[in-house]
Amino acid sequence: MSDLIRLSFTIDRKLLEHLERLLHESGYGNRSEFIRDLVRNRLVDREWEQDEEVIGTITIVFDHHRRGLTEKLTALQHQFEGAILATTHVHLDEHICVEAILVRGRASRIAELGHTIRQLKGVLKGELSLASLGRGLR
Ligand code: NI
Repeated sequence: MSDLIRLSFTIDRKLLEHLERLLHESGYGNRSEFIRDLVRNRLVDREWEQDEEVIGTITIVFDHHRRGLTEKLTALQHQFEGAILATTHVHLDEHICVEAILVRGRASRIAELGHTIRQLKGVLKGELSLASLGRGLR
């Protein structure tokens, strides 16, 4: 870790109350860690906004009995060849499956893949979570 610098800053009372509530709700032990994570999250958001190379996870819950869906999912993952790092599939019950797809690539391509998968009929829930290769976070 790089040198730690101690900062002091001003904030109005109302905003401080919001900060304290957010901190409490999200289970952070102290303000420093919370603020460090806010900055890191903002840096990751910026990587996505600037269409940099990023990492993400697309999580989908779907009904595998839906006609053609599993074939479409496979075809899509071939179409986006190079973007898929790994896929984990778990059968939740007789009908429902969850798949976590770890993806890497330009933010716009990853977002397009996430959007396309979420739109497929039979996908009950789809979510793209944004992460970073970490280069800008050190
Ligand atoms: Ni399954």
